[in-house]
Amino acid sequence: MDKLLIEGGTRLSGEIAISGAKNAALPILCAALLTKEPVTFTNVPRLNDIGTLLRLLEQMGVKVSRDADVVTLDASGVDNPVASYEMVKTMRASILVLGPLVARFGEARVSLPGGCAIGARPVDQHIKGLQAMGAEVKVEHGYVHAKVPRLKGARLFTDMVTVTGTENLMMAACLADGETVIENAAREPEVVDLANCLVAMGARISGAGGDVIRIQGVDALHGATHRVMPDRIETGTYLCAAAVTGGEVRLTGTSASYLDSVIDKLMDAGCEVTAERDAIRLKGPARLAAVSLRTSPYPAFPTDMQAQFMAINAVADGTSIIRETIFENRFMHAVELQRLGADIRIDGNTAVVKGVAKLEGATVMATDLRASASLIIAGLVAEGETTIERIYHLDRGYERLEEKLSALGARVRRLR
Ligand code: UD1
Repeated sequence: MDKLLIEGGTRLSGEIAISGAKNAALPILCAALLTKEPVTFTNVPRLNDIGTLLRLLEQMGVKVSRDADVVTLDASGVDNPVASYEMVKTMRASILVLGPLVARFGEARVSLPGGCAIGARPVDQHIKGLQAMGAEVKVEHGYVHAKVPRLKGARLFTDMVTVTGTENLMMAACLADGETVIENAAREPEVVDLANCLVAMGARISGAGGDVIRIQGVDALHGATHRVMPDRIETGTYLCAAAVTGGEVRLTGTSASYLDSVIDKLMDAGCEVTAERDAIRLKGPARLAAVSLRTSPYPAFPTDMQAQFMAINAVADGTSIIRETIFENRFMHAVELQRLGADIRIDGNTAVVKGVAKLEGATVMATDLRASASLIIAGLVAEGETTIERIYHLDRGYERLEEKLSALGARVRRLR
């Protein structure tokens, strides 16, 4: 299994380009199932999760062509509306095929994702929404089996804000008969990007980005071309990496507008951040100040940046309190950070991080995607060498990670 070796202590500096957003690309690629005409996507990141989804779509009968960051999908010949356990267990976001399949083909069989490292993560809200739209849904033998001649527009309310739940139901509603209103909708920029793509395909959607989304169902969608938005979590991760090393970087192909809550915290920590039209500059101070935070749905602080901030707080001046309100078990990086010398106490969904003067390199284990990112950040500032094991998590969500870090001057190497 690949490992990543980081020699800490380099100030990051320079410029790198941010890739397309994984969490926008995943639902957007699934949207191609809604039409029999080819759809072309640009700025699609080359990540393992994207490869997994494309394989899943191929298994269903979608024709996939891919050239660098451009992917064209032709779902005219879909003959197998099934997502098997083998595929879904490697990537939970496979559940995003459920809404489009039921909407276009009137039937889908999608494996239940099961738990994952960071929590139980059920999909009951996705199911409840489809039922409210008239689908007959059975959960049997670990599979969600949904059937309906044609979905009917409905008023939907989700018990909690769910990102992929909102996306699944929004896609399903595009081909439903009549109007669907999704209340308590997720406001994440990735939901807006998906809505923009669907509108380019002929969908009638208003309100995406707010907590009430209205969709007027149409009989069919058509082909289109869509550019995937920049990855705000990749952006935030490199900002943290630069900040903790007292570095100075410019990230291009991205936008500060998706990152208000994160940039706000980085500024509180003492960084200078400048937003440009399609780029962000950051200059880190000699030592960061500790910043407390609480994760919540967008536009509040993202759970996907919590681990990275725990790493920077570990060496910041002062004590911070981190509250995780989205997932029940998302502090696994804390014990690994402790192996590097961090002083972190966990009590339920709260972590108290006392900044230490320095971390020391050690061997640590990545447990999930963003936990891995936090270990990299810690490794960059730790004294000596840090070895990160199980980095396959990183390959799921960070495109050309070593190349980008090296371009900023980090001493990092992959051991195969
Ligand atoms: C998405 C993101 C993930 C991010 C998360 C929260 C993608 C592919 N993934 O995941 O990176 O960390 O949003 O911002 O976009 N829940 C239920 N029942 C449901 C659905 C959700 O109980 O039917 C709960 C979840 O267990 C969790 C909370 O709601 O506690 C939010 O989850 P959700 O927004 O659905 O996360 P994902 O869409 O899976």
